[in-house]
Amino acid sequence: MREYVNLNFEEMPKYWYNILADLPFELDPPLDPETNKPISLEKLLRLFPQPLLEQEMSNKRFIKIPEDILEEYAVYRPTLLIRASFLERYLETPAKIYYKYEGISPTGSHKTNTALAQAYYNKISGTKVLYTETGAGQWGSALSYAGLKFGLKVKVFMVRTSYKQKPARKQLMNFFEGEVVPSPSDLTVSGKRYNKNHPGSLGIAISEAMEKVIENEEAKYALGSVLNHVLLHQTIIGLETKKQLEKLGLSPDIIIGCHGGGSNFGGTILPFVTEKLSGKDIKFLACEPESCPTLTKGEYRYDFGDSVGFTPLLKMYTLGKDFIPPEIHAGGLRYHGAAPIISILAKKRLVEAASFKQSETFKAAKIFAKLEGIIPAPESAHAIAGAIEEALKAKKEKKNKIIVFTLSGHGLFDLSAYI
Ligand SMILES: Cc1ncc(COP(=O)(O)O)c(C=O)c1O
Repeated sequence: MREYVNLNFEEMPKYWYNILADLPFELDPPLDPETNKPISLEKLLRLFPQPLLEQEMSNKRFIKIPEDILEEYAVYRPTLLIRASFLERYLETPAKIYYKYEGISPTGSHKTNTALAQAYYNKISGTKVLYTETGAGQWGSALSYAGLKFGLKVKVFMVRTSYKQKPARKQLMNFFEGEVVPSPSDLTVSGKRYNKNHPGSLGIAISEAMEKVIENEEAKYALGSVLNHVLLHQTIIGLETKKQLEKLGLSPDIIIGCHGGGSNFGGTILPFVTEKLSGKDIKFLACEPESCPTLTKGEYRYDFGDSVGFTPLLKMYTLGKDFIPPEIHAGGLRYHGAAPIISILAKKRLVEAASFKQSETFKAAKIFAKLEGIIPAPESAHAIAGAIEEALKAKKEKKNKIIVFTLSGHGLFDLSAYI
């Protein structure tokens, strides 16, 4: 029998968890690049609405999820925790492997968890238009959907290489009434700095989106990863996982997620971090591409979140704002930086990171899809590669490890990448 754990809606957590309340160290503040001092609230208000900035800086441990967002979450949440029993058998591992499947959301990934929250808080703050960037298109489609739900116009700069690789993602954004242009574009000064055939990067797309926000008083910017409030909204993943494991009477030894800017990984592990801080032996493993090795090869320092230098300076692991990653299919992992929260946890060695070649991740994803019946997004394939590696290690060491990973999205729009 297939083992999985469902929660009913009443059991779903009705709050997000804010790790900042429990960290025994302070996060370095975002800096204003003009003064090199902590950036003022006024400047940030030009980009984000007040309620999201309050969450960004909050020290409150639990933040109530508003009713309107809960109602939208109920469309697809709680999500299942599924035992990868076919994969376990195939690997002949004594480890138990569970995955939290976020691909069930309306646009196919975890990104909807924060998109709905960001659209809601923008709506109640009077925003009319949201500008954003997207890599593979998962974030752009999630925000388009959320914008439609809460009555906001959504305009997306999509990294050119992914725009070409994934036409169905563009169609999905258009279906949910989002407008999409390939980035670099000729709509902004930032975009015009690059030539028309440039593959683009998330850093460039962020610069373009921010430039448009600065021109339009009624617009705000929505970011799909990296910032504290984005990770906060994603903790619904880890909070549900925790309850589901408790139902099974299990305690995880290893928790794994793929890592682009850090939102699905952070959302999964953050509710478990206090256990590690109080001495439990638990491994948190962030899996990233070898070609964009932010946590494994980056430097821990202040850097811009975008390529041109519009954003505040964030203290994070970075490959440098000018780094242009190769045109891999996991477009959502082609980002030069990492969330400040994940970066400090990695710096303090509370989080580990591993990098994988594109060929290894597709091999792992194909094995998984053929056994488990879900075709993973190329980003999520990195978490699968990490889980397989850990399960084989457990086999070699003859250890009954409990391995949990987040399958952040499905890859039904990524079939050409598989082919
Ligand atoms: C399915 C999927 N997983 C993971 C990511 C990586 O982002 P993050 O590290 O913020 O979870 C993306 C980004 O677009 C994505 O689309």
